[in-house]
Amino acid sequence: MIDALNLYELEKLAKEKLSQSAYGYYFSGAWDEVTLRENLTAFERIKIHYRVLVDVSRRDMSTTLFGHRISMPILIAPTAFHKLAHPDGELATVRAAGKAGTIMVLSSLSTSLVEDVVRAASGPVWFQLYINKDRGFTRDLVARVGAAGCQALMLTVDTPEWGRRERDVRNNFHLPAGLSAVNLLPSHERGEALGQSGAGMGQAFAWMLDASVTWKDVEWLRSLTTLPVVLKGICRADDAKRAVESGASGIVVSNHGGRQMDTAPATIEVLPRCADAVGGRVPILMDGGVRRGLHVLKAVALGATAVQVGRPVLWGMAAGGQAGVEIALGMLRQEFDLAMALAGCTNLKTITRDLVTG
Ligand code: FNR
Ligand code: LAC
Repeated sequence: MIDALNLYELEKLAKEKLSQSAYGYYFSGAWDEVTLRENLTAFERIKIHYRVLVDVSRRDMSTTLFGHRISMPILIAPTAFHKLAHPDGELATVRAAGKAGTIMVLSSLSTSLVEDVVRAASGPVWFQLYINKDRGFTRDLVARVGAAGCQALMLTVDTPEWGRRERDVRNNFHLPAGLSAVNLLPSHERGEALGQSGAGMGQAFAWMLDASVTWKDVEWLRSLTTLPVVLKGICRADDAKRAVESGASGIVVSNHGGRQMDTAPATIEVLPRCADAVGGRVPILMDGGVRRGLHVLKAVALGATAVQVGRPVLWGMAAGGQAGVEIALGMLRQEFDLAMALAGCTNLKTITRDLVTG
């Protein structure tokens, strides 16, 4: 029995179940965690100018991404190591995503094999990628996830290095024996490649990033695959424009949940200028701080095609495995549906920018 009224209460239940080190890893932001907090508080500053006397007795929040209909504009963001939260790990997540009629983006650092996750899925699975120093390794991984049946690639572009999360350093965060980033084996068989030594991502997983990656590598990645390539981690209008020019099929306005560059602006703040730069040419996702259905309404009004949620899924997982993730997604769906009604909106097209200020 999961007794939580909202995602904040769900986080409290999760915190009781998780070790200090696992909770710290999931919760943490970089350095002073300013952006981590801003992602949440910036949503509160935005005001909704609701419409009245609209017939909202029938409401539709479904949308389409790359030809696939999803039941709500809320995706599961790629987050690492779901088995830290619950032994069912990513298989539970993908089943919950399927039940909710939405997409799971599987992290490169998943604790379950991509093939097993796709097999357990009843909806689309996208794969999140970092470009490895060893380009051959990345090429093989792209081929492998395509063969497994993933339907899009999400390239994370805000990680030339890992942000420094001091909670992880303090807790000496590493994966417990028995858990590892299984999709990245067996190419890296050193102890630290498994993430079982070191203190946080900066030490345990430094080998998998390449600080020399540029826009040229985006074009290289596109040449390897026919799958849509979505760039995740964009916060500036000029980068958003450049992404489209580089052939990206979509972007995610994201600051990695405040875990990379601290004092970067809240994503909801930069979303409208990124959306203007993209000008409707490709879908725009956003993530960071989405904790209420109301936040989904604000993001859609400011130009998002859909949002992603990261930590709330992990809180649901820790609180109750697949059922917990279903509860987390269900809360957002119900709140968003009510928010649409109260704002005078019947479908996503009616959620326009004039509904919000601030
Ligand atoms: C992440 N995020 C992330 N992003 C990514 O591209 N690959 C990854 O493996 C991970 N792993 C990861 C682990 C944990 C514990 C967190 C909290 C986040 C970032 C994630 O995709 C997303 O951008 C943020 O989580 C969104 O912010 P919220 O919803 O957590 O506030
Ligand atoms: C993180 C990585 C895995 O934020 O993206 O911890």
